[in-house]
Amino acid sequence: MENNKAWAKKMTDIDADFFINLSKQQTPEYLWIGCSDSRVSANQVIDLAPGEVFVHRNIANVVVHTDLNCLSVIQFAVEVLQVKHIIVCGHYGCGGIKAAYDGKDLGLIDNWLGHIKDVYRLHKQEIDALPTEKERLDLLCEKNIIEQVANVCHTSIVQRAWRDKKDLTVHGWIYSIENGLLKALDAEVSDTAQISSTHTLHD
Ligand code: CO
Repeated sequence: MENNKAWAKKMTDIDADFFINLSKQQTPEYLWIGCSDSRVSANQVIDLAPGEVFVHRNIANVVVHTDLNCLSVIQFAVEVLQVKHIIVCGHYGCGGIKAAYDGKDLGLIDNWLGHIKDVYRLHKQEIDALPTEKERLDLLCEKNIIEQVANVCHTSIVQRAWRDKKDLTVHGWIYSIENGLLKALDAEVSDTAQISSTHTLHD
């Protein structure tokens, strides 16, 4: 509570109308889908002020086809806020990825981690060929992001936006906790032609 008072004062010292202007509307250009990890806070990592990024976070930044929570965030962001970019941002050293890789019985969360195990199963040969566990985990973190980018693109929401010729790009980024830097993965999608025909919606 004390931190909050000091922060609000600091913001209004810089711009007296900051909160008044912000209270009237939000017009973020970005939707961030990231991990719940306390070290990967969306606004801080991309140094954006309140009002500039719409955020959804869960363990290991997973986009499940039927997750009403995540789908509602995507729909609101794309159709109402009209964001131009959806960023799926994972991070190296992700505990969710490691837990899925280790396969220990952790209870309820194992069902959530099952989605990451699906990614591991798809790329098992390539991942297991790497010499160290760190390299294998790093690659699984990257593969998971690429897979979740695809899942965002496969939603009816994003495909409809593209069909309506909306300017919308989905990005896959990875963050390094060790140096604070982001890296863009080769996973930038901005039209239906780039997605798997299995998931393409037709008229
Ligand atoms: Co994580």
